[in-house]
Amino acid sequence: MKVLAIESTLDETAASVVESSGSGVGIVSSVVASSANLHVKYGGVVPEIAAREQLKLIIPVLMESIGEQEINEIDAVAAAFGPGMMGCLLIGVETAKALAWVWNKPLLKVNHIGAHLLANWIIDLRSQMSDVRLPEFPAVGLVASGGHTDFFLMENVNDWKWIGGTRDDAVGEAFDKAGRIFGLPYPAGPAIDKISKEVSDEEYKELNKEDKLPRPLIHDKTLDMSFSGLKAAVARAADNRSLIVDSRSKNIMIRDFSEAVTEVLVAKTKIALEKYKPKSLLLGGGVAANSKIREALKKLGEEFSIPFFVPELKYCGDNAAMIGAAAIMRPVEASFDDSPEPGMDVV
Ligand code: KG4
Ligand code: ZN
Repeated sequence: MKVLAIESTLDETAASVVESSGSGVGIVSSVVASSANLHVKYGGVVPEIAAREQLKLIIPVLMESIGEQEINEIDAVAAAFGPGMMGCLLIGVETAKALAWVWNKPLLKVNHIGAHLLANWIIDLRSQMSDVRLPEFPAVGLVASGGHTDFFLMENVNDWKWIGGTRDDAVGEAFDKAGRIFGLPYPAGPAIDKISKEVSDEEYKELNKEDKLPRPLIHDKTLDMSFSGLKAAVARAADNRSLIVDSRSKNIMIRDFSEAVTEVLVAKTKIALEKYKPKSLLLGGGVAANSKIREALKKLGEEFSIPFFVPELKYCGDNAAMIGAAAIMRPVEASFDDSPEPGMDVV
């Protein structure tokens, strides 16, 4: 089965052609355009600007992703129906509807958050099938993105249960808000990741214990998380220590921020692994691109003797290949009068 998939939930406009390949999903093409640079000066995505950019980008992105492929080989058209910003979602969903109608193909409805985890079924078409290892169920999945930080118990590809998540800000939001205080451009996750790696262990040891940022809810035994206090703590510390003028101590604090977030995610994932004893651990979402978090969760998987799966970097941030993967793994047919769902639930 071959699917043309569209992603337009926020500031990325993406299209991809994917096909089923064994028990996984192969990527024929994946094109991602972004309006992120237009939102930099506002420190976050401006809905009206993002929606206008979706309109501008959708056709060129689709044309590039379809390329020379035969339309009659495409079996279905999929789109992310939510969650996301209504103005942005409308562009992708209505474009998908128009194509499905004109080509007389089924229209598939995908949940963006679920797709971040289903990106773990993407396989490299060039690799030998015998090398491919795919997640086994039951699995524990952690989605860490700009809008969500949630744990799911995945009994099988269709049956998922929400088992915990953040009470307030998403972890990506914490990266972006802290980044703003550190004077880094939106989205700040990649810059915080890079700077953290540049601070050596010796330098990091200079940070006094009492000057360290809090690790919110780290000793709480549930899967509840909270990241809004971390942002406030960064703001307080920045005020107290005039960090904006001292780049060395600022960088040490940036590393501490990464350590704090990683420690919390590891502690919470550990609770989930102890409680649910899954056969695999899955990570997905924009924050899954973070090198420290990837490394730490891989190690945790090893401690529990279960494989850890995280998508290739290009399939962590918003992209349409994951929407296609979700459409193939978990097809849900939509009708032409279905609307985008800005608050769509995963389970
Ligand atoms: O999944 P995503 O692309 O969009 C949403 O669905 O929200 O996630 C975007 C988030 C942003 O908050 C961005 O700062 C964060 O992912 N991010 C990172 C890294 N790359 C992107 N956070 C930490 N480390 C990174 N390397
Ligand atoms: Zn996302």
